[in-house]
Order: sequence, then C-alpha cells, then structure tokens
Amino acid sequence: MKRLLRNLLIVALALVVVLFVIYRVVLSSSTPNEELTLDARVTAILEGGGCISCHTANPELPFYANLPVAGKLVKQDAADGYRAFDIAPLMEALMTGAEPHVIDVAKVEKVALDKRMPMAKYYLVHWGSQMTDAKASIIAEWARDFRVAYYNDGLEGERAGEPVRPIVAMPEVDVRKVKLGFELFHDTRLSVDNTVSCASCHALDTGGVDNHQYSHGVEERMGGVNAPTVYNAVYNFVQFWDGRAMTLAAQAAGPPLNPVEMASTSFDEIIAKLQEDKLFVDAFNAVYPDGLTEANITNAIEEFERTLVTPNSQFDKWLLGDDTALTAEELRGYELFKEHGCATCHAGINLGGESYELMGLRRHYFAERGMELTEEDNGRYKETKEERDRHRFKTPGLRNVALTWPYYHDGTRVTMDEAVRDMALYQCDVELADADVEAVVAFLHTLTGEYNGAKLTNKNEYGVVIVDDHN
Ligand code: HEC
Ligand code: HEC
Ligand code: HEC
Repeated sequence: MKRLLRNLLIVALALVVVLFVIYRVVLSSSTPNEELTLDARVTAILEGGGCISCHTANPELPFYANLPVAGKLVKQDAADGYRAFDIAPLMEALMTGAEPHVIDVAKVEKVALDKRMPMAKYYLVHWGSQMTDAKASIIAEWARDFRVAYYNDGLEGERAGEPVRPIVAMPEVDVRKVKLGFELFHDTRLSVDNTVSCASCHALDTGGVDNHQYSHGVEERMGGVNAPTVYNAVYNFVQFWDGRAMTLAAQAAGPPLNPVEMASTSFDEIIAKLQEDKLFVDAFNAVYPDGLTEANITNAIEEFERTLVTPNSQFDKWLLGDDTALTAEELRGYELFKEHGCATCHAGINLGGESYELMGLRRHYFAERGMELTEEDNGRYKETKEERDRHRFKTPGLRNVALTWPYYHDGTRVTMDEAVRDMALYQCDVELADADVEAVVAFLHTLTGEYNGAKLTNKNEYGVVIVDDHN
C-alpha cells in the first residue's frame, strides 16, 4: 500500500515536471520577459517567429532547405516572402536603436494582429514561434509608442496609435521665394514654344492634376504615365512614380527639359527668355543675389510647392478628436481600410508616399490588365535595374483623391470605386462587397482638405477623363 502510494507520488511529480517543461518551452518561453525593453521584446518575437528566414535577401535557411521536396517548398516561401516584404532594415533598426521605417512598423503590426505570420506551416514545425495574443499586443504597444514619438502630432487616447496621421503644422517657408515660385509654376516660358506651364498639368483648381489618363505636353505630345497631384507632394519621401527625383527641386528640373512635357533644350534657353522680363528679373534678383540659375529657379518652385498642403479635412478633424466629423458610414470605411491592410501602405500624413510597393502584391495585376506592358510599368526597376524592383511604384498619397481621377500610374481606373475594388483585389487578396466599396469611398471623400483656408475643389466633372487639349 505504502509502495503504491509512493509510486503514485513519483508519477504525479514527474507529470508536474513534464507539464512545467512543456509550459516553459512551448508557451511561456515564447513570450519575451517583461523586464526587457519593448525593442528587445519585439526583436525576440521576430527572431523567434522565423521572420528573418523568409523575409531577407540571403536568409540562413534551416538544414532541411537542402532536402529535395521540403527544400523546394522552403526556398519558394523564402523567395515569395522576400518579394512581399524585406525585414532586414527593421531588424537592423531594432538592433542598433535607429528609427524604424513607419511602413515596416505598420506591416509588421498588421500581420501580427491578424496572426497571419509566421505561417502555420512554419510554426507547426518550429515550437514557440506561433503568434499569440500576448506577442501581438507587445507589437501593437511598440507600434503605438513609436508613432506617438515619431509624429509628435498631439493625437491622444484611442487615436494616438492610428496609422494615418493628421496635418498639424504648415511647413515653414520664405514667402518671397514662394511668390516667385508661384509665378514660375504658372509661367509658360519654361516650355519651348511658350504654351505649357507646370499648371497646365497640375492646375491648382483641378486638384493639382490634369484629369487626363496621360498628360499632354507641347504640341500635344503625350507621356506614358498618369500625373500625380502636386498637393501634399512635399510629404513624399521621393518624387515621381519611380522615385527618380529625391527632392521637389530636383523634380522641378525635369519637366522643363522633358521632350514630351515642356521640351526646352536647356535651362540656359529658359533663362535667356526670362532675362528679357525686366520686372521679373528685378524681383528675382532681390531674393536671389546670384540671379537666375537653374538651382535658384527650381529652389523657388520647391518653396512654392511646400505651401501646397491641405489640412483641415473632415478626417483630420476626426483624428484630432472631433467625434462628429465623420458619419457612421465614413468611419466604417476607415475601419475597413485598416482591416484589409490598406493602411499598411497608405499610412502616415499623406496616406502613402513613404515607400515603394509592388503593384499586384497578392494577384497578378499586369497579366490581367488587358494591355501591353509599357516601359513605365517597370516602375522603380527603370532606375535600379534590380529585378525585385520591377512593378514597384512609390505608393501614391490619398489626400484629395476624390479630385485626382483617373487613377493608378497607368490611369486605367476612372472612378474611385474601380480604384478601391481593384486595390483590394490585387494588393490585399479581398473581393470587397459593393457596400464595403461604397464605405471605403465615403471615407476617401473625407480626405479632401483646405488650401489657403478654402475647401479644395476640382472644376472638372468627376469621373470624366479629358481627351481634348489644354490651353
Ligand atoms: C515560412 C516563411 C515565412 C515566415 C517564417 C514568415 N513569413 Fe511573412 N510572408 C511569407 C510569404 C510567402 C509572404 C507572401 C504571401 C502572403 O502574403 O501570404 C509573406 C508576407 C508577409 C508580409 C507582407 C504582407 C502584406 O500583405 O503586405 C509581411 C509584413 C510579413 N510576411 C511579415 C512577417 C513577419 C513579421 C514574420 C515573423 C513573425 C513572418 N512574416 C514570418 C513567408 C513567411
Ligand atoms: C505635360 C504635363 C506636365 C507638366 C507640364 C508638368 N508635369 Fe509634373 N508631372 C506630370 C506627370 C505625367 C508626372 C508623373 C511622371 C512620372 O512619375 O514619371 C508628374 C510628376 C510631378 C511631380 C511628382 C509628384 C509625385 O507624387 O511623385 C511633381 C511634384 C510635379 N510633377 C511638379 C511639376 C512642376 C513643378 C512642373 C513645372 C516645372 C511640372 N510638374 C510640369 C505631368 C506634368
Ligand atoms: C502593398 C501596398 C498597398 C496596399 C496594401 C494598398 N495599396 Fe493602394 N496603392 C498602392 C500602390 C503601389 C498604388 C499605385 C498603383 C499603380 O499606380 O499602379 C496604389 C494606388 C491606390 C489608389 C489610386 C491612387 C492614385 O492617385 O492613383 C487608391 C485609391 C488606393 N491605392 C486605395 C487603396 C485601398 C482602398 C486599399 C485597400 C483595399 C489599398 N489601396 C491597398 C499600394 C497599396
């Protein structure tokens, strides 16, 4: 009897030990210790989650990557994973204490909250790597803290962690330069035959765009890509769909000499024309002592463009705490926008303009478009010649998007409905119900802001793509 009791006790004790070990190894050990810093805990979660093996250029693949069948699968996952997302810059920022990229933060937060990553086939063979509520909430807290510090825009309470941010401060500018820049922006002498100004394609009363599929330059010459708006371009991390200009000034040097836009042969030619205008030259020299140069001209245009920001949209008001600023439908649209992952690329102050993203991330856009591939479709690849950059574009910002039809770099989507429905399909792998498309579009309408104190409008008729010429 005594022996039986003793044996039972031993078995029970052994069981407790085994359960404890399982608990430590499988469950608790996978949630990083609370005494670590947030950065360290997030690092541990990402390392433990195997993110690095599938989301870097040269992952150290596990040993079974060399086995015939499993190896092929693993390599395919790593290739697809790296195509979808490169986690190396984020890991480096976490290790060195540098500032992570806002878009990387948004993406990692989203896949963590959805428990979409790591994938089941990974965590089923890598114990402890699975995303749990505890881990996801650590990542969410880290993302929130990061945004509060990074944007420092005064968002409070529940809204402090929103991925989309309000315009709270106007960029500081030199008003004398702004005035010169405004004039140059509207000056047709920048073009070879004095017919086209920047405003021909980016008029301030048509949402900063021309509502053409492709812009028309001098002599009706046509480019191969849709004109983005100049409003809020100052918030873009680079300019152009392919990012080939790092600054607004560098951007402004392009169109005057672009053969299908303004087609001047050189800035000397432009400057010679401007020199004949005594009033303008005097005004210019008063601000720029070294006078009319390419650098000064583009500097003035940049300074003017820095004023093209559009605060006080209904959505800004809501972000800043006015609960009545959005209708229930608009708010539902914003919730859908976050739920489906739109806000992982269209994030920040301009809801975009902060990263290059693959067009057709979840489904082949170009194969289904029904139009020959063009040079412009290569996107960022044109600049880098890196295969990974093919079909990657600078994500367009979405402020005032209700005024800037048609949409996409190829101008193939005429209405917001089409643009939203196809974004969901090709970028998020979701077929949106009609009512949900409507809600998202209602939300996008709330992004129309104010310029110089008045609500921005477009005098053209919504959804009509202009095919005749401009004057
Ligand atoms: C076994 C390989 C594998 C592992 C491990 C893995 N991923 Fe992924 N990940 C993929 C693949 C493949 C895709 C693209 C297909 C998809 O989106 O489902 C992807 C997509 C993503 C995306 C892009 C999602 C989007 O739609 O924008 C992010 C962000 C991401 N993973 C983050 C992570 C993070 C964070 C971890 C670690 C917690 C992780 N992944 C672990 C393979 C992996
Ligand atoms: C003939 C029409 C046309 C004219 C004239 C023109 N643009 Fe553009 N603009 C475009 C097109 C098209 C693009 C997109 C080109 C690309 O991405 O390759 C663009 C892009 C831009 C961008 C980048 C916006 C973004 O989100 O990437 C800015 C800023 C801009 N233009 C300002 C100007 C200025 C300043 C001038 C005058 C110096 C000017 N444009 C003249 C058609 C025009
Ligand atoms: C993976 C990143 C990514 C995701 C996710 C994403 N977008 Fe986009 N979005 C882009 C890129 C890149 C473009 C430009 C595509 C092109 O020009 O071919 C774009 C273009 C757009 C445009 C057209 C803007 C213009 O001026 O031409 C709208 C509207 C838009 N997205 C809305 C959405 C909505 C709504 C969702 C969610 C259902 C979404 N996007 C999800 C990257 C993304």
